[in-house]
Amino acid sequence: MTKEMILAIETSCDETAAAVVDEDLHVLSSVVSSQIDLHASFGGVVPEIAGRAHVELLEPVVQEALEQAGRSIRDPGVVAVAVTTGPGLVGSLLVGLSGAKAMAYAWGVPFLSINHLEGHLFAAQLESDSLVFPYVTLLVSGGHTMLIGVHGPGEYRLMGETIDDAAGEAYDKVARYLGLGYPGGPAIDKLAAQGDPTAFRFPRALPGENLDFSFSGVKTSVVRAVDRSPEINVADVAASFQAAVVDVLVAKSMQAVERIDATAIVLGGGVAANSLLRERTTTAALEHGVQCALPSLAMCTDNAAMIGAAGWHRFRVHGGDDFSIGANPSLVLEMERA
Ligand code: KG4
Ligand code: ZN
Repeated sequence: MTKEMILAIETSCDETAAAVVDEDLHVLSSVVSSQIDLHASFGGVVPEIAGRAHVELLEPVVQEALEQAGRSIRDPGVVAVAVTTGPGLVGSLLVGLSGAKAMAYAWGVPFLSINHLEGHLFAAQLESDSLVFPYVTLLVSGGHTMLIGVHGPGEYRLMGETIDDAAGEAYDKVARYLGLGYPGGPAIDKLAAQGDPTAFRFPRALPGENLDFSFSGVKTSVVRAVDRSPEINVADVAASFQAAVVDVLVAKSMQAVERIDATAIVLGGGVAANSLLRERTTTAALEHGVQCALPSLAMCTDNAAMIGAAGWHRFRVHGGDDFSIGANPSLVLEMERA
């Protein structure tokens, strides 16, 4: 028997993405067209450029995703169309949302409104069907740093979050200061491999029982160190900065695991691609005797397959959403604060 499928669309920031995901959360196709090159010379995402690029890219990306899954745009035979409605850039969100509604309407299937963050929470389930609730997800991206207790689909508790910069934002700002370009995370990650992580002792913020994070102090310390000695070894700075950030991320993740007696630690979001974070989380999970779920690099960064996974959950619980739902740039994920 052929499996039922959902077409998912993600255009919340600078990635135009479409994917086809079946009812068992198998990814039949996942196409991501990155606009990084378009934004790099501006040192960050330019909303107007992002929106225009989505307009051009959405149709070919959707077409490619359907073709790779053996479907055609005329008669795709999907049971629903899931799309990110927030949070994100309003102009970018609107392109995906209008396209998704039009397709769902034309094909006579429901449309599903998905929170981008819930997509990141579901990404690990696409690659690991052995995950058992409750688990802790460390969601670390350019816009968010959160520790979330996942007690079941839709049952989330916010255990800690950043009180200032997101981890990815700190990476991007420090990289810009060091002249490493955009996006900063991968550049620092690469350069850090050649540096000495003990060369500078940057602050580990908010140690102790509190599971919140702060990254503005470490960022300021990097700036001060560089200002003091312009001839500084940049690889050493990158390695020491990365060590300070990852130390705190891993320590608090493990505290969260202990607090709710979780079965696993799961990474999500763009910073989850970081090599030191992956290595250190794997070791810590082993020491704590819990599972460690590290989504592949493609599933850590923005993609539509994760929106499809969250879409299946929404489809089963709510059926379709009302076509009057609009884009919401500051959409929050419903969570109890634990
Ligand atoms: O989840 P994402 O693709 O987009 C959103 O913010 O939603 O995350 C992008 C962020 C950027 O700040 C980027 O610098 C960071 O993830 N990033 C990394 C690495 N790869 C991407 N940060 C540290 N190490 C990396 N290898
Ligand atoms: Zn994201």
